[in-house]
Amino acid sequence: MSTVVVLGTQWGDEGKGKVIDYLAAEADVVVRGQGGNNAGHSVVVGDQKYALHLVPSGILNPKATNVIGNGVVFDPEGFLKEVDGLVKRGVSVDSVKISDRAHVVFPYHREIDRLAEEARGAEMIGTTKKGIGPCYMDKVERSGIRVCDFIDPEVFEPLFRARIAEKNKIIVSIYGGEAMDADAMVEQYKVYAEKIKPFVDDTSLLVYNALRSEKKVLLEGAQGTLLDLDYGTYPYVTSSHPTSGGFTIGSGIGPNEISTVVGITKAYTTRVGKGPFVTEQDNETGDRIRVAGNEFGTTTGRPRRCGWLDTVMINYSKRVNGLTCIALMLLDVLTGFETLKICTGYRYNGEIIDSFPASLKKLAECEPVYEELPGWTEDLTGIDSFDALPENAKRYVKRIEALVGLPVSIVSVGPDRRETIVRDAIY
Ligand code: GDP
Ligand code: IMO
Ligand code: MG
Repeated sequence: MSTVVVLGTQWGDEGKGKVIDYLAAEADVVVRGQGGNNAGHSVVVGDQKYALHLVPSGILNPKATNVIGNGVVFDPEGFLKEVDGLVKRGVSVDSVKISDRAHVVFPYHREIDRLAEEARGAEMIGTTKKGIGPCYMDKVERSGIRVCDFIDPEVFEPLFRARIAEKNKIIVSIYGGEAMDADAMVEQYKVYAEKIKPFVDDTSLLVYNALRSEKKVLLEGAQGTLLDLDYGTYPYVTSSHPTSGGFTIGSGIGPNEISTVVGITKAYTTRVGKGPFVTEQDNETGDRIRVAGNEFGTTTGRPRRCGWLDTVMINYSKRVNGLTCIALMLLDVLTGFETLKICTGYRYNGEIIDSFPASLKKLAECEPVYEELPGWTEDLTGIDSFDALPENAKRYVKRIEALVGLPVSIVSVGPDRRETIVRDAIY
């Protein structure tokens, strides 16, 4: 059994795309199981950089089938735009399969996302405004439209018209917005449906058959553990389950099929959007990390908030995901700091706690307890073995292993595929 989950242990943007692309060279099937085009996964190959949102990050590997699973909220407009961009660059998208059970994101979801954020004022979540939350709301409320119904014109049109009418009421009466043009939307989405049809499949069955024939399946997480609807810093979270459990539902396989859970972890911490962030460095240190790590959102271009690595968070992530190893990313970004800090505990009400609190009020009052380690000045680019890393970089990695109790199986020292040090084989 060789099913590997790759997921984010922090607040997203840990470098999942890079690792998926790297591991996809050996995979037969790559599956996205949650989220939507709120994700922005970067893959760098030589001088080419790709930003993937809905298309799985295995797309550059000609061998792999790339599945958009049932747990994903699927935006046809975003997808077709992304596919267009890839095809123009010579990337084949023939391997893409879209689940017939995935829910469809429509323009009214995006509009309600925008209006709801506006209405929250200072309490805004800082969403990507891609309509993710409103689409999952419809799914849970049992009023969503699934891909299988979207591509069936007889089922789709009446269903869609009914939904637009309902959503227009919400847009106009609750938010004071402008009603959306139903006729134009119906016509446009019928055209999109025709274009989507060839990609649609029963992907749960496809993944199951792949597993039965001993194929290698790679499950690609979007977002990160601290953005999980249950385990994240609620309500500053996304509306899906980016944790390992989310994959069994989101891709349609049993939990016993999963053998390895790789926790993609930045060598420091970032977050986009609002919410408490214990190790945040809203100062020169944070600015320096932001510039060195080019910490600006792949999807929205927003500057990411930056801070030190937090092992209270990583240990929590280890527990709720059943992590089996860590891939430590962007280590090169820390080059040049005289000393590096790692948060090993939270001080709360004069006591040290090492479990991640549920209450945001409590979290906001937690003070980080830091351990300081010496930094290094050597450029890490081009280093291709762990032994060749500067002593203090190795010490930093080994200290993380000790604090988290997991092997750091991959160390990443640059955005390119080649800038990857694999210490233990993942498959
Ligand atoms: P994802 O959402 O988890 O796939 O991560 P993003 O792609 O949004 O953000 C990670 C950023 O870091 C991207 O710009 C990557 O190209 C880049 N990146 C990934 N690994 C490394 C690394 O080891 N070093 C550096 N400098 N950049 C990296
Ligand atoms: P990848 O896959 C980082 C954040 C948003 C916001 C919150 C809710 O690239 O790691 P949403 O639009 O999902 O309702 O927004 O979640 N967020 C991400 N942050 N990386 C992502 O994806 C994210 N996807 C959503 O900034 O705080
Ligand atoms: Mg990202």
